[in-house]
Amino acid sequence: MGSARVIFDRWDGRYAARMAGVRSSAVRDLFAAASRPDVISLSGGMPDVRRVPHDAVTRATRDAMRHDGPSALQYGGSEGRAALRQIIVGLMGESGVRLGPDDLIVTAGAQQGLDLLARVFLDPGDVVIAEGPTYVGALQAFSVYQPDIHCVPMDEGGMRIDLLEAELRRLGPRGAKFIYTIPNFQNPAGVTLVPERRRRLLELARTYDIPVVEDDPYGRLRYEGGHILPLRALDADVIYLGTFSKILAPGLRLGWMAAPRPILARVLLAKQAADLCGSAFSQSVAEHYMTGTGWRRVLADLTSTYGARRDAMLDALSEFFPADVTWTHPEGGFFVWVTLPAHLDTKALLAEAVQHGVTFVPGSDFFPDGRGGNCMRLAFCYESPEQITEGVRRLAEVCEDKLELYRAFVAAGAVPAAARVEEGALR
Ligand SMILES: Cc1ncc(COP(=O)(O)O)c(C=O)c1O
Repeated sequence: MGSARVIFDRWDGRYAARMAGVRSSAVRDLFAAASRPDVISLSGGMPDVRRVPHDAVTRATRDAMRHDGPSALQYGGSEGRAALRQIIVGLMGESGVRLGPDDLIVTAGAQQGLDLLARVFLDPGDVVIAEGPTYVGALQAFSVYQPDIHCVPMDEGGMRIDLLEAELRRLGPRGAKFIYTIPNFQNPAGVTLVPERRRRLLELARTYDIPVVEDDPYGRLRYEGGHILPLRALDADVIYLGTFSKILAPGLRLGWMAAPRPILARVLLAKQAADLCGSAFSQSVAEHYMTGTGWRRVLADLTSTYGARRDAMLDALSEFFPADVTWTHPEGGFFVWVTLPAHLDTKALLAEAVQHGVTFVPGSDFFPDGRGGNCMRLAFCYESPEQITEGVRRLAEVCEDKLELYRAFVAAGAVPAAARVEEGALR
């Protein structure tokens, strides 16, 4: 913050027009501020890899070299190594999804899956339906291909399927290219799509013949409540994106896409154009790491660690924030979505928050059209419970002045009641 430099770009006129709509994400821009030791980061959704035993990764790497040396160092098939795909089949089976190794490909994280889907499905002006707010990385990946992204609001039960239906009806025969959803512990809202809505969403997708993309990086990080079947378990036509980033480490850049075979064939062509094949080395390390039961103990430790941090955040929000601020109650994942009264602007609050030693991501980053200006995303995945409590306390201090002013305006009748709720809110 305060260190923004204007860089003259003499190649400015040379770039493809499609790059004009691609925004940088505040999460990335905040990286420098969030890395300062005196700043408590409630912004980045970084898994706590400090809790992944480095010995176990070293052992897996040694085993990869010992057992797979030449193949791990070589180019591999673009669909990914057979052994890793078999492991993914097992993981999906545990979540209730039955498929075979040929129903999926390995990708460089779920993020590559998003980019590849955008490449094979989107022409400029095509409509994509997503939740509002939605994952910044998806907005970024899609926007390169210049679609028109329509956001469907959510509440504590996930995407409002009644509003989705209305949107599909409004779009009529023009339709949408696909519906993008993060049903479990949504990024950024933290909410989960309830089972009845999952069924209804799939019915609508069938009726309107629109593919559904289910992005599920957090599904195994549940801290309360029971497992809910993924959309892909209910309908084999769903395109499912999974990742090792949250159960192992994002540094390996490994994820997967399960999809109907004709779609996978197109995606594979796009993947070959992008990278020939994924890293055989990373895949081999993951195969050896995921052999045996050690990884399950690590995942259990991560889950209880994140659960305690979530509790600390929810407790601190109740303790420090007043009644005119609301927030979601995530049953898993990394994020809480906080809604301030409508006219408050969290982007403007951010610089002050950094000065007070705490970061968050402003809500408008999670909408294609800048809505959600009175909201913010708080991440509880990386800091200790004590730091989270202190971070929320600092944030409440920053907000308090603005809230005081807001209340004075309301008391004076200067803020009309209708302006107090905005679409970014989840109530
Ligand atoms: C909803 C969502 N999708 C995809 C990703 C990308 O994950 P990966 O590291 O697998 O590329 C993330 C990462 O935070 C995410 O939150």
